Amino acid sequence: MMKPVLPQYRLTAAVGKGARTRPLRSCLCNVGGILLLWLVKLLLTAVVARHLLPTACSTGCDVGAIDDYVREDVVDGAAKSRPALRPQKLDKESYWADPSDFEDIFDLEHFVDSLRDQVQIVRALPTDKRGNLSVLTMTPVHWSNETYYTEEILRLFEKHEMVHFNRTDCRLANNGHSIELQKLRCRVNYEALKFTPKIQALGDKLVSILRETGPFVVLHLRYEMDMLSFSGCARGCTDEETEALTRMRYSRPLWREKEIDSEKRRLEGLCPLTPEEVTLVLQALGFGRETPIYIAAGETYGGERRLAALNAAYPKLVEFLVRVKKEMLLSEEDLRPFQNHLTQMAALDYHVSLESDVFIPTYGGNMAKVVEGHRRYMGFRKTILFDRKQLVQLLDLHQNGTLSWDQFAYAVRDVHKHRIGEPARRKVIEDRPKEEDYFHANPYECLSPVSSQPGYLRRH
Ligand SMILES: *[C@@H]1O[C@H](CO)[C@@H](O)[C@H](O)[C@H]1NC(C)=O
Ligand SMILES: *[C@@H]1O[C@H](CO)[C@@H](O)[C@H](O)[C@H]1NC(C)=O
Ligand SMILES: *[C@@H]1O[C@H](CO)[C@@H](O)[C@H](O)[C@H]1NC(C)=O
Ligand SMILES: *[C@@H]1O[C@H](CO)[C@@H](O)[C@H](O)[C@H]1NC(C)=O
Repeated sequence: MMKPVLPQYRLTAAVGKGARTRPLRSCLCNVGGILLLWLVKLLLTAVVARHLLPTACSTGCDVGAIDDYVREDVVDGAAKSRPALRPQKLDKESYWADPSDFEDIFDLEHFVDSLRDQVQIVRALPTDKRGNLSVLTMTPVHWSNETYYTEEILRLFEKHEMVHFNRTDCRLANNGHSIELQKLRCRVNYEALKFTPKIQALGDKLVSILRETGPFVVLHLRYEMDMLSFSGCARGCTDEETEALTRMRYSRPLWREKEIDSEKRRLEGLCPLTPEEVTLVLQALGFGRETPIYIAAGETYGGERRLAALNAAYPKLVEFLVRVKKEMLLSEEDLRPFQNHLTQMAALDYHVSLESDVFIPTYGGNMAKVVEGHRRYMGFRKTILFDRKQLVQLLDLHQNGTLSWDQFAYAVRDVHKHRIGEPARRKVIEDRPKEEDYFHANPYECLSPVSSQPGYLRRH
């Protein structure tokens, strides 16, 4: 063995109250949990736990998380024999201004218990020592392999008692890991991370209401202002709206691309479908007028005007907090805990998305990817993955009269025949991890072989 000599410290990942704040911001992506725990058993007793939560669809791959790793010798008392994983503090100053913490969203007890055999966890660092630890704040290299952590990162603990990762999005590559590590990712994502009983119960209630008349669809309609502004997609917006989107883009220093040709981008398949386009595609796919459709997303930009076509075609459209509240699907009392807690609302959306009969994301983004992967894990539940590039061509051809409705509908169905979240291998692209399929969207190492999953075509 050529392992470097490293201190025999047990590393501790700290999550929770008092943990450093990580922005966990924006849109529905911020819950649903990609949580990645990393066992570095190779290195004596060292254990590194890593926790990721997907956030901020608008920036594509922005995943927020805790990440304080602490040498065991600085964790005292009861914690001594086990490393600490402390629930994360979420960003309180973001757009959402949501005061929720990790344990307001996830079942902390379950989390700790279910990982007990692989990762030892404590909930808090000793506060008196905290200010005195030698802490290294850093951003780990993204898309890294195992060796990077087992060698380079662990070596940092020779000099520091605590390492704080201030970014944790996409830090671990999709491919090239041991099967054990991939399975552990699944175990954490799909088994250990559970929403709180309160969120689960309300989610179940919503699901049973939606399913009263039969199967229901969750439409992850990504058409919020920030994501349109970021992506530069303005089709169907008024001049004032387009201007507002452009202004917003110029006002954000981190959104580097400023001049964007919306139409060009759309033709490349890089824009979310508009609500009007989505309506036609749903009809082409054969979803009947009576299908209950739950919109899991933030506020649609352009409001009622942009939802008019969808509303007219699908009278059983449910927009959470708009229709649910207006039509009293849930009572004021049910909803009160969720007001001003958009992260918890997002958790509710995640739960309903997971349980739906068909899940249809209109755009990529972390939440959609995680739900897609989670649904595969739950037995290849149907997820319709739009081929946006082909769809915009077909839509244009239909709208200018080249394709009749029947030809259009046939073509739309044909394009999506094999885009329903069925068993498949991930696309691997050496050196371009951003463009390959994400592990979270298709954790096939954790899924049963194709032959034992005959059920995947059954739904809907
Ligand atoms: C902080 O560390 C210094 C030296 O490492 C030590 O003398 C001091 O007692 C520590 N303070 C606390 C509050 O632990
Ligand atoms: C993370 O920490 C490093 C080192 O302190 C700093 O240079 C970097 O700007 C920080 N990044 C973020 C996203 O806070
Ligand atoms: C892991 O990544 C490092 C770069 O961070 C590279 O030098 C090394 O060869 C990689 N190891 C394996 C086993 O792929
Ligand atoms: C319809 O649009 C396509 C491309 O979008 C174009 O090639 C075709 O000529 C148009 N047909 C008519 C009748 O305008």
